[in-house]
Amino acid sequence: MDLHDPEWPVIRHMDPVLVPGDRWYRTESRAFFATRAATWDVKFGSDLPAYASAIAESGLVVGGTAVDVGCGTGRALPALRAAVGPAGTVLGADHTPQMLAEASVRARQNGAFLMLADVRHLPLPGRSVDAVFAAGLLNHLPNPANGLRELARITRPGGRLVLFHPSGRAVLAARHGRRLRDDEPLAEPVLRVSTAETGWELLRYEDGPSRFYAVAVRG
Ligand SMILES: C[S@@+](CC[C@H](N)C(=O)[O-])C[C@H]1O[C@@H](n2cnc3c(N)ncnc32)[C@H](O)[C@@H]1O
Repeated sequence: MDLHDPEWPVIRHMDPVLVPGDRWYRTESRAFFATRAATWDVKFGSDLPAYASAIAESGLVVGGTAVDVGCGTGRALPALRAAVGPAGTVLGADHTPQMLAEASVRARQNGAFLMLADVRHLPLPGRSVDAVFAAGLLNHLPNPANGLRELARITRPGGRLVLFHPSGRAVLAARHGRRLRDDEPLAEPVLRVSTAETGWELLRYEDGPSRFYAVAVRG
């Protein structure tokens, strides 16, 4: 990797459209987040300590490889670097270029690589990472189980999946003006089944007002 390459540290890997209807999903999702990228940190910057404490208590392996999927502006990258230490590897993946542009400063400061990639089809070998961190991602995937399956593919047995949001589901639903539903991807019974069916075992589930935090281990 050439640190003087102006393109560094973004690795571009957008796969072709995966299934019919995907082009619509990708276009809509990117357009939604593209318009929010520049002000994301201004709006949500005060959440950073919550990211740091969630990652610090997730038992990431020092010297290991951690990937932040749907990394957005890279808010988790400093905490992931702190968790894996200087010898570890930190990666961020997102399919919205404007989000990665915002993330690039944090990526450089924390020696993290950024990938322009769809988290449902990552340019990473099987069993190559020790920990996957996903904040605010799962609800945005058209088929969350497919996303979990791909995250399981890249994670070594015993590796961790951390699902996080700096507010709980009820607070978020109220903020979005909708009712909390028990068939949502992050509802405990739903998540328990979808993780079990995709190669994960759910170890911890917390959905209080101040955060959503779930940890699963790769079987
Ligand atoms: C709610 S934002 C969260 C961003 C960041 N994790 C945070 O906590 O600030 C969701 C992010 O996931 C990205 N995303 C959504 N679907 C994706 C997909 N299929 N592949 C890659 N990134 C995706 C969006 O571009 C957006 O940056």
